Amino acid sequence: MFTSVILAAGMGTRMKSKMPKVLHKVCGKPLCGWVIDASKAAGADRVCAVVGHNADMVKEALGDVCEYALQAEQKGTGHAVMQAADVIKEAKGEVVILNGDTPLVTAETIKSALEYHRSSENAVTVITAVLDDAAGYGRIVRGVDGGVMKIVEQKDASDEEKKINEVNSGMYVFDGESLSYALGKITPNNAQGEYYLTDTLEILLNAGKRVGGYAVSDNDEIRGINDRVQLSEADRIMQKRINEAHMRNGVTIRNPESVYIEDGVEIGSDTEICPNVTLKSGTKIGSDCVIGSDSVLDRAVIHDGADILSSVILESEVDEGTHVGPFAYIRPNCRVGKNVKVGDFVEIKNSNIDDGTKISHLTYIGDSDVGKRVNFGCGTVTCNYDGKNKYRTSIGDDCFVGCNTNFVSPINVGDGVYIAAGSTITEDIPKDSLSIARARQVNKENWKDRRK
Ligand code: UD1
Ligand code: MG
Repeated sequence: MFTSVILAAGMGTRMKSKMPKVLHKVCGKPLCGWVIDASKAAGADRVCAVVGHNADMVKEALGDVCEYALQAEQKGTGHAVMQAADVIKEAKGEVVILNGDTPLVTAETIKSALEYHRSSENAVTVITAVLDDAAGYGRIVRGVDGGVMKIVEQKDASDEEKKINEVNSGMYVFDGESLSYALGKITPNNAQGEYYLTDTLEILLNAGKRVGGYAVSDNDEIRGINDRVQLSEADRIMQKRINEAHMRNGVTIRNPESVYIEDGVEIGSDTEICPNVTLKSGTKIGSDCVIGSDSVLDRAVIHDGADILSSVILESEVDEGTHVGPFAYIRPNCRVGKNVKVGDFVEIKNSNIDDGTKISHLTYIGDSDVGKRVNFGCGTVTCNYDGKNKYRTSIGDDCFVGCNTNFVSPINVGDGVYIAAGSTITEDIPKDSLSIARARQVNKENWKDRRK
């Protein structure tokens, strides 16, 4: 059990964005969301985000996943932590400080740092990394015995200190009481005139407490995001982690570098994901499915054995053994049944399509309820909108809809109906009827000669 305090009040100027930095997303989840989830997965029982710039926007976007402390003016990392003083005082167990813009930190690293901190009986453990290029980071100054002495910021560092390549990740494990004590002693006497959280190390050492450093094994975990280039790098690293987790779970992913699967997607075993597929958060895919190249699925629910080829499916459900695509567009609120065929250039919106129905080509079905085993000829259109209101079309089981039929809704079609090709249906059709709604063909023989 521990409390986590996440610093997220900074502006993020280099993002050049209207949106606060911590709300920019990596694999479908805000930067800060990743950090909150990592702390919870590591066992945090309380998470408090310190917000400042666009605080309301951040709170609204993240909602009640954590508590909030407000830092109205950004006077440094130490000052930010001071804003969570109440939460720190009430903390049962350690206080872990994390940065809201460091989405790649894992629960495992937080747990390992906590274990190290506990077994070393430290008052503070700083999470560090050894980098080839340490520029911009605070440097970890160690004494002759290897113990951490202090952290110096780049701007305050001597030439000798600048050569140190062990850096401060900005993440720490604190004993709660020690943190409260040290926060009370920080002063802004430094190059930036800020309250540095990093000063707490020296303060605690001087108070006779133990201070330690825990070096991460994977430097990616401490990557902070400051601009869109770093955002794309974090996206790529997270994408690899997510794809590898699915592959280890029994999912085949072809050319995984091209496959973008967001956080919170479920995929069953023996499903194959082809190149250039995007699966957005909330999508659930069963086993033995094929998701063909260039498909985009957003909050789609795809049942076992379905086969989706180069298609877009939004907030809709596709049942077992159904084939979709290529180039189909299933818009929100559709339920497509079992063993249905939705073919090329078919658009379906806010509709239910029951089992065994075939909509093979070039068809629009909107606001409709379609029964079982219906066959749609090419080019069927439900005319569901009169310019003001939308109306439903209902088609019974075992109907045969001829090519180029228009349904001017509202329309009810009974079971077993046949509709002649080219019909514009404006009235309900009783069951088992043949409906022909087009002008009868007239052939004027020898008309060409008479025209002369
Ligand atoms: C900080 C550390 C540095 C470390 C680096 C790691 C200090 C003094 N320095 O430097 O040793 O190597 O992080 O990335 O702590 N924030 C607030 N309120 C503030 C200031 C900052 O909430 O008043 C938040 C920022 O939004 C950010 C985090 O704290 O999430 C770190 O702040 P930043 O300004 O990036 O600190 P650095 O100068 O990078
Ligand atoms: Mg920074």
